[in-house]
Amino acid sequence: MQPFRFAHLSDPHLPLAPDRPRGLEWLSKRTLSYQSWQRKRRHAHTPAMLAAIVADIRSQGVDHWAVTGDIANISLPGEFRRGAEWLRSIGPAAGVSYVPGNHDAMVHVPFDQGLGLWAGYMTGDGAKAVSFPYLRQRGPVAFIGANSGVPTAPLLAQGHLGAEQIERLGDTLSDTGRRGLFRVLMVHHPVADGVVSNRKGMTDRKALRALLARTGAEMLLHGHAHHADLSMIKGPLGPIPSLTAPSASAIGYRHDMPARWHLVTVDTDGPDWHVQVEVRGVERRDAPVTALGGWSLRLPGTGVG
Ligand SMILES: [Fe+2]
Repeated sequence: MQPFRFAHLSDPHLPLAPDRPRGLEWLSKRTLSYQSWQRKRRHAHTPAMLAAIVADIRSQGVDHWAVTGDIANISLPGEFRRGAEWLRSIGPAAGVSYVPGNHDAMVHVPFDQGLGLWAGYMTGDGAKAVSFPYLRQRGPVAFIGANSGVPTAPLLAQGHLGAEQIERLGDTLSDTGRRGLFRVLMVHHPVADGVVSNRKGMTDRKALRALLARTGAEMLLHGHAHHADLSMIKGPLGPIPSLTAPSASAIGYRHDMPARWHLVTVDTDGPDWHVQVEVRGVERRDAPVTALGGWSLRLPGTGVG
């Protein structure tokens, strides 16, 4: 098997300007978030940093891009339009898989003016419409995208999958496991406890962990925390690495972690998977994007050979 290489990046948070809420758009959770963006977030994320991360990913020649949410900031229609342009700028829909974050679902937005503009990047193989979880097989890897982005009350940034989505996820994970694929589950909110506060946590992460303990998965990818984390989640054959990437546009403002992405290489030479994760990013603003570290994992195969 040829090693399969993919990029994991998250939380690009494209600039909100020139948009601002208008008219009735102020009467929503957007108001507080707009004020927070004006106060802090617009200083914390820059297009230049995001462009440097994207250029570095391109220079590595990856086979696929996995983006775990939060293109937007306060879910204004203009953000979805510019988000669609950004997605097209990084690659065709077949080569980029996206799952929504809480900032892409801050308030209810009609599908055709919101997430629908990114539909091609969230549509499963052979599917005609967006439905979560989706499944996209690329080489030996099954990219499985779940949607934890739901509108929440002001000051909360929680996520939720819901019982139905978790049930469908169980079918998809079991099926792709039987087929011996390397299952990568993408979900914006981290699954492990303690990576983010409860105010920001996925409310049904315990149910998802119970499912994963039965079905397994080879790797979990998240964003949301805006800092890096590697946790281990219980699987049927051993721990499942659960990887959280910081924001790909963060300059390291105040206590923020500056931008990083993960270069993941999946290989096998028999019964086991060999996985290498190279962490690439910047040490500080204005520094070049370089390798910052990494690790290798040997994971039990799901029928590969
Ligand atoms: Fe975010």
